[in-house]
Parts: sequence; structure tokens; C-alpha cells
Amino acid sequence: LRDIILCLFIGYVFGCFQTGYIYGRCHGIDIRNYGSGNAGTTNTLRVLGKKAGYITYLGDALKAIIAILLVKYLIYGNLLVPALDFQLLLAYTGLGVAFGHNYPFYLKFKGGKGIAVTSGVMLALDLRIGLIGIIGFLIIFFTTRYVSVGSLYMSLAFPVCVLIFYPGQWHLFGISVVFWLMAWMRHRENIKRLMNGNENRFERKKKN
Ligand code: G3P
Repeated sequence: LRDIILCLFIGYVFGCFQTGYIYGRCHGIDIRNYGSGNAGTTNTLRVLGKKAGYITYLGDALKAIIAILLVKYLIYGNLLVPALDFQLLLAYTGLGVAFGHNYPFYLKFKGGKGIAVTSGVMLALDLRIGLIGIIGFLIIFFTTRYVSVGSLYMSLAFPVCVLIFYPGQWHLFGISVVFWLMAWMRHRENIKRLMNGNENRFERKKKN
């Protein structure tokens, strides 16, 4: 249990690095007061442009990857001797990052929706799972133009992929289910808008 708490804590600290919020602050705004009010990649892109969106995605996905690599290093360096399966501790670290990203204490627990983070965690845990998530996301986004639909797919793909690639590993499956449920909960408003037909859409730029 001590190891789990430590990994969740390390992850949470990394997760609190809110790239979109910090980028917005550097440009004189609180991103959460604009667009959808979310502090993630999509809204940063929507409000501050493509460059801001790419930077936010990279920052948020990388913080998950770096946190997981740090824990890997601590384990390899024998500084952390896990009583649990290695992969599980890495998954708990990723979960901590998602908690920190979605619920940062210093922003009154109002952060992002955890999709860039989840993609980083999926990549860091298993490249196959990461690619299935990200490629599926891109296909869905480019065909529907709804980021949220891609996000809902990606977070669901995580537990489905764990079932396929790690059959019988119920603990890991449980952690991936928490990722999925948290992401869908954070997308409550998007789901409502999708059902009402008024979800924000990134329209293709019209050629003149
Ligand atoms: O990853 C967040 C995305 O799925 C939705 O973002 O700003 O449109 O609520 P947003």
C-alpha cells in the first residue's frame, strides 16, 4: 500500500503541472474562463490557437510519461522495491498524474479532462495500447470533427486493450477502468451536448 500511495503522490505532483493553464497565464488569461472552460489541449487550441494546443498536448502527455519513467528509474535503481507487480505501480503513477491534472489542488480542483495524460500513460505502459488509442482517436476526430467523441473512444479503449493484451490481470484492468470512468465523468457536459446535437465542433477550414 505504501508503494501505491507513493506512486499516486509522485504522479499527482506531476499532474498538477497544468500546461494549458500556465500557457494561458503567460498570455494574460485564465483559460478556464474561455471557450468550454476546460484547461486542456482542445480548449487551449480553440482559444489560443494551434501552437498553444500542440504545446499543451505535449506538456500534458509528457508529464505522464516522465512521471512513469521516473518511477521506473526508482525501481531499477532499487530506490523503490515494489511488493506489487512493476506494471501496476507504473499504472498507479499514471493514475496519480490524471488525478493531479483533472483535480489540481491549487486551482480549486478545476483542471482538465485527462485525455492527453491518458494517451501518455497508455503509450508509456504499452506502445500497442497507446497506438490503438491515439490512431483511433485521430480517425474519429478527422471523420466526425468532434474531439470529445475521440476522447470518449480513447479512454474506453484503455480497459478494452488491457483485457485483450493482459488477460486475467484484473488489478491492472481495474486501474484502467478508473481512467475510463474518470474521463467519461469529466466529459458529462460534452456527452449532454452531443446528445442535444450542440457539441462544439472543429469545422474544416473552407477553401476560398
Ligand atoms: O480532451 C478534452 C476534449 O475531449 C473536450 O474538450 O474543451 O471541448 O470540452 P472541450
